[in-house]
Parts: sequence; C-alpha cells; structure tokens
Amino acid sequence: MNILITGGAGFIGSNLAEFYQSKNHKVIIIDNLSSGNIENISFLPKNNFIEADIQDNNTLEKLFDEYNFDIIFHLAAVVSVVETIEDPFKSQKVNIESTLNLLKIIKEKNKGLKRFIFASSAAVYGNVEGLPKNMDSLISPESPYAIEKFAGEQYSKLFNKLYGVPTTGFRFFNVYGPKQNPNSTYSGVISIMQNCFENNKTFTFYGDGTQTRDFVYIKDLISAIDCAINNEITIGKTYNLGTGVETSLNKIFSEFEKIYNKKINVEYKEFRKGDIKNSVSDITPLIEQGYKPQFGISEGLESYVNFSNNNIKEKCYE
Ligand code: NAD
Ligand code: UD1
Repeated sequence: MNILITGGAGFIGSNLAEFYQSKNHKVIIIDNLSSGNIENISFLPKNNFIEADIQDNNTLEKLFDEYNFDIIFHLAAVVSVVETIEDPFKSQKVNIESTLNLLKIIKEKNKGLKRFIFASSAAVYGNVEGLPKNMDSLISPESPYAIEKFAGEQYSKLFNKLYGVPTTGFRFFNVYGPKQNPNSTYSGVISIMQNCFENNKTFTFYGDGTQTRDFVYIKDLISAIDCAINNEITIGKTYNLGTGVETSLNKIFSEFEKIYNKKINVEYKEFRKGDIKNSVSDITPLIEQGYKPQFGISEGLESYVNFSNNNIKEKCYE
C-alpha cells in the first residue's frame, strides 16, 4: 500500500512509519521538522521524505498528482499547547485550515483512499469531572489546541458524511515511547522522567505525584490504529485511544527506580495551573473492534528504556 504520514518525522509519526515500512508498504512523509527530527526516520529512503509545510498547497497538489494513497495519517500539527495559547491565529492555520485543505484535496484527487486517520487529543475533554471519559462525556476545551483538535476530528467526520471520505478520528491519551522528545518542560512526563533517570538529573513533580493519567505505549497505539484500519465499521467514527488504566506519577517514578535500580533526586513544585488531576479513557468501543492493549505500565516502561537508551536507530518493529 501507499501510505502518507503528515508529521511523520515526529514521535508518533516516525513509529508508525517504521511499523508500516517493516510490513513492506511504501511510506511517504511530509514534515517541516518544526518539532520533528530527521534522525527519527533514518530508516526511510531519502526520496520518500518531503521537507515541506503542510500549509504549502502546491506541494500537496503535486504529491496527490503523483500518488494515489491507500492510507493517510494526518499528524502534522502545532503540538505545543503553550504555542497555541500565544498565537491561536497561527496555530489554527496549521491545525484546522490545513486539515480542511488536506481533506478537500483528498476528496478531489485521491479516489481510492481506504482510510484517513486524524490525530485528535484527550485535551478536548478539558477539566470537567467524571471518569472514565467516553464518547458521551462533555467536550470542554481549555486551550486553542483543544478547540483546534476538536475541529479537525469533526471536519474529518463531516467529510465522511458529506462526501464519503473514509475517515477515522482518535483522541490520543498520554502516549509514550521511543523517539519522544524530552527537551521541553511541556514534553510528555514519561520522556522527561526517563531522561532524568538516564542522566541522573533532578525530577520535578508539579504537585505531589498523585495525579493520574492513561499512559498508552506507542506499540499499543499502533495496534489500535491498525486494527481500526482493518475494520470498516470504524469509518466515520471517533475513538478514545488509551488503555483504560489510570496510573499515578508516583507509580511511574517507582517503576523507573526498579528498572534503573537506582534513586534520583526529586523536587516538588506547585501543581501546574490548569493541570488535570485525574484522567482515564473508556476504550470499550475499540475493544469491541478487537483492540487489546498489550503493555501494562511496567512492560511499556521496560520496552521504552530498552529501545531509548543508546540505540535510537535500533529497529523497534520487525
Ligand atoms: P511531534 O511534535 O513529535 O510530531 C508532530 C510532527 O508534525 C513533527 O514532526 C513536526 O515537525 C510536524 N509538523 C508540525 N507542524 C507542521 C507543519 N506545519 N507542516 C509539516 N509538518 C509539521 O508530536 P507527536 O507527539 O508525535 O504528535 C503527533 C500528533 O498526535 C499531533 O497531531 C498531536 O497533536 C497528536 N497527539 C499527541 C499526543 C501525545 O501524547 N504525544 C496526545 C494527543 C494528541
Ligand atoms: C496532556 C498534553 C497537553 C494537553 C493536556 C490536556 C502531552 C505531552 N501533553 O498534558 O498538551 O494540554 O494533556 O489534556 O500529551 N509533570 C510533572 N513534572 C514534569 C512534567 C509533567 O510533574 O516535569 C506532571 C504534569 O503537571 C501533569 C502530569 O505530569 O500533572 C502529566 O503531564 P504531561 O505529560 O504534560 O501530560 P498532560 O498534563 O496530561
């Protein structure tokens, strides 16, 4: 199959690319490397990478003249919540307008498409109480990022309803795994913690570490998406993508202590403003389609540490 991954040089995209390339599919990536890294996709043939902005309509038109894609993963986005708060006009151009434009081009040019996958976020639920989050939970965006992600998933759904484009949206919960960049204070907490253990740095808990999240290992995320792609009933729908298991930061920290067999320094600061205390997804609809998370938190962290340590170029998918 021909597979297009927008934002494919990033954390999730590069893992998806490696997975599908290992299954002998042709993977094309378009990425402007704003938060991604070319080293993440060192396995990809050079000609299959297009360094371009997803807003560049000419490049997109040319790409769709050249290829008929079977699967498109649309991951390219301004992913930093802080950036979307600082400049929502700029981020909505990437996160909403470019999604709409991509859907329009697909509708016009890519007739044989089997699936368009949109990466939405648990952020759409905001801070409203009531767990686990299911598809009937209230949507309450707390940032331009969350509004933009909701708009993207809804446009994807609408293009299915109006024009029959085979779209599926996923609200990713807290994804972790190899190639996640730990270098910002707002990076995923597991990548930051792992980096502290690896380099004997002090880890900062915002709050007391009792806050919980639904941490999903990248391989489970990929298996859920792959399962949905192979199941036509998932077309036109949006799914939560987590594990259905709630894990505290303290638990993650003690798992790292076991894996690394050492202690590191910690400090405690105030809870972050707007931080959610607890989060977990209801994944029943995906389980009904055959998704079965394989990585509990200990297995996931262990696999992550094995792959992340020194060998970013080592193959994760055979
Ligand atoms: P990432 O930053 O590693 O990947 C995003 C990629 O998109 C990067 O490679 C970046 O260079 C590229 N990009 C950004 N703007 C672009 C543009 N204008 N044109 C072309 N490429 C552009 O982030 P990630 O964690 O891999 O996230 C992938 C997707 O999943 C994003 O849409 C994100 O919003 C969503 N998501 C991620 C999580 C998570 O836990 N990581 C949770 C919820 C949703
Ligand atoms: C996630 C998203 C965020 C989105 C939010 C809304 C990621 C990486 N972030 O944030 O974009 O706005 O969902 O649902 O997916 N923490 C520490 N120390 C650190 C870093 C984090 O204690 O060094 C704490 C945070 O305060 C938070 C928890 O760890 O309580 C998880 O943080 P993070 O990984 O950023 O994820 P979310 O807060 O869930």
